[in-house]
Amino acid sequence: MKNIKIIFALVVFTSIISCNDKRTPQLQYMPDMYESVPYNTDAENGLLGDPVNLKPVAGTIARGGHAAYEYLDTNEGYELAKTNLKNPLEATEENLANGKAMYTIYCTSCHGSKGDGNGYLSQAEKFLGIPNYKDRDLTEGSIYHVLMHGKNLMGSHSSQLTYKERWQIVQYVEVLRADLSK
Ligand code: HEC
Repeated sequence: MKNIKIIFALVVFTSIISCNDKRTPQLQYMPDMYESVPYNTDAENGLLGDPVNLKPVAGTIARGGHAAYEYLDTNEGYELAKTNLKNPLEATEENLANGKAMYTIYCTSCHGSKGDGNGYLSQAEKFLGIPNYKDRDLTEGSIYHVLMHGKNLMGSHSSQLTYKERWQIVQYVEVLRADLSK
């Protein structure tokens, strides 16, 4: 009985706050949920403009492992990267070790731990046409290009990996390829 009274009181209360004069703003429970307050980076930076969709300033490069990539996702882009693009990292134990770690996470499922194309997705025939690295004419530039843009059934890995990680993987793929060709 007591519960019914409480429910009744609640119903009356809600109708009072929701049904009065339509012209004045109604009482809002948690107004933040009706009117979101966008985080205003402009005000913080003392800039004017669109507060939400701020684009990076032209010509700048984001910190934290990103770098501009100039080779287009075309056959010409591939060929140019293949000839001109060189690994900026030195072949150190550390780079190679991280390359191996990243390769194990992102590539073995298709390419196999040895790079022979026998990863479990390949064995399960989920992805067809995964090559053995030794059967392809690859350079450090072409491997990097494929990581950036993908190739046919292989997707781009540009968003999962930083600039440095990609080059570390390239280093490791070259080691695998050399081992496969022995
Ligand atoms: C989902 C499966 C899949 C994953 C994951 C994958 N690849 Fe591939 N990869 C392929 C397929 C399929 C091809 C063949 C593309 C073609 O030539 O049609 C390929 C081709 C390649 C080639 C040869 C490209 C060329 O120029 O001929 C390289 C090098 C390569 N992958 C490296 C990698 C590396 C490094 C990773 C991890 C960062 C990776 N792949 C992750 C499926 C995958």
